[in-house]
Amino acid sequence: MSNSRENWGSKLGLILAMAGNAVGLGNFWRFPYQAASNGGGAFMIPYFAALILIGIPVMLVEWNLGRYGGRYGHGTLGPMVYLQAREGTKPKTALIIGSLAGMIAFAVTLLVNSYYNHIIGWTLGYSFLSVTGGYADTAVSTGEVFVNYIQSPGMVFTFWIIALAGLGFAVMRGIQKGIEAWAKLMMPVLYVFGIVLAIRALTLGSPVDPDWSSMKGLNYIWNPDFSALSWRSAIAAAGQIFFTLSIGMGIICNYASYLKADDDVVVSSLATISLNEFAEIILGGTAVIPIAYAFLGPDGVGAGVGLSFIALPNVFRTMAGGQIFGALWFLLLFFAGFTSAIAMYNYLVALMEEDLGVTRGKAAWMVFLGYIIVGLPVGLEPILTKTADLAYFTEVDNWVGSNLLIVLGLIEIIAAAWLMGDGAFEEMNRGGIWKVPKWFFNVFHKLVTPIVIMVLIFFSYLDFYKAGYFKAVPSFVANSPQLVPWVNGARVVVFAVMLVGFIQSYRSIKTK
Ligand code: PHE
Ligand code: NA
Repeated sequence: MSNSRENWGSKLGLILAMAGNAVGLGNFWRFPYQAASNGGGAFMIPYFAALILIGIPVMLVEWNLGRYGGRYGHGTLGPMVYLQAREGTKPKTALIIGSLAGMIAFAVTLLVNSYYNHIIGWTLGYSFLSVTGGYADTAVSTGEVFVNYIQSPGMVFTFWIIALAGLGFAVMRGIQKGIEAWAKLMMPVLYVFGIVLAIRALTLGSPVDPDWSSMKGLNYIWNPDFSALSWRSAIAAAGQIFFTLSIGMGIICNYASYLKADDDVVVSSLATISLNEFAEIILGGTAVIPIAYAFLGPDGVGAGVGLSFIALPNVFRTMAGGQIFGALWFLLLFFAGFTSAIAMYNYLVALMEEDLGVTRGKAAWMVFLGYIIVGLPVGLEPILTKTADLAYFTEVDNWVGSNLLIVLGLIEIIAAAWLMGDGAFEEMNRGGIWKVPKWFFNVFHKLVTPIVIMVLIFFSYLDFYKAGYFKAVPSFVANSPQLVPWVNGARVVVFAVMLVGFIQSYRSIKTK
């Protein structure tokens, strides 16, 4: 079985595919507003702490889990985690741990894409609007443009389906001809666009208010503010590290399962992290935040989710050459999102190939249908409720985009560092161009990383509890009765998908 698995075609292709996996909307859409709404400079302190204490150790574990699982013919998390966990515990316990891991990876790869694919569709739609001057008319606010967009079935569904079809087509062609080929094309272009935008951003004065400028925007995010530190910003920062590095999702492991047994994982993991962080803090932080600050001031930067789609179009409609820069920006978002979504898509395709024994082509069609079904409520909510709250989207993101990732990270590190233990350490260094030092594994993987993750999980649930989150009608929608069914609907869907995921991975481990 393991012989029939495809491998990556080249080192460069592998690194670009992994960078494509990690560099996504998380870097350009999520990072700026997370940083801005958690105090700018105050956010960056826990952000770097989480990068070192969690990001690097978990990334190494994921590459190792994936390459190890791939050797046994597996591309999915259930069997991967099981294989390592059984080295240090009873087969029954390992079966449960593996099933939980598989359950979360299944829920994340299916459900994150219920909204993520829509945002990819929006970026395509907005690229189109940029070129055609669709938001150039200053009589209509960019907020209204956005609300009109998400309430228009024509716009929403057309671009969403185009994006989904593109993904399906890419994944269908396999690892080398599909995933690797698209990453080699899109990633270099993405970096070039990002650099052009960042340079433009840094040379902007402020045409609006002499007190605002892109340099002040840089200062806003790079000036550490220890007094504004809080648990909330720490949790948000750790959540962002998971999301942006694609860890706790299963998709790094899946890509790593197409490695050969002696391919390096240490330097490659670090290369993936570096390419992602360059895109995030240099390009995302330097292009987006300073542009927004120069034109909109501190309040504009804090525009939350709307930063990319509402605040920035405001800038593009007033700046010279805005149509071009707007198009560059939304195409950059599109490439980023597309090469990440391919990874989630491929995870589910691998799952179907392995467990249902179907061909890649057939599996790609099944995932396409699955994504349409889970994505429908996200697209329909604004259209049917005539609101722009995106409550269903937000609820799914709270659970699978922020919470489950961290839990999966913990399970993976327990399976590798505690149960497989030193065997995992040796496995990690096999074929390594550099080697992870033993002290690093002992200090981080065995101790610091799992403890930090556990503390974070505790405080994050406490925070949810205090915010009235676990009530039947959670506080944040108590004043909008029309949204309650959407939030509860999202909860039912998340729960149902987790149940299916558990059964699926349990059976997958048992039958092999
Ligand atoms: N790391 C990705 C990002 O930053 C996360 C992701 C991957 C989300 C795949 C969705 C699909 O956007
Ligand atoms: Na990312």
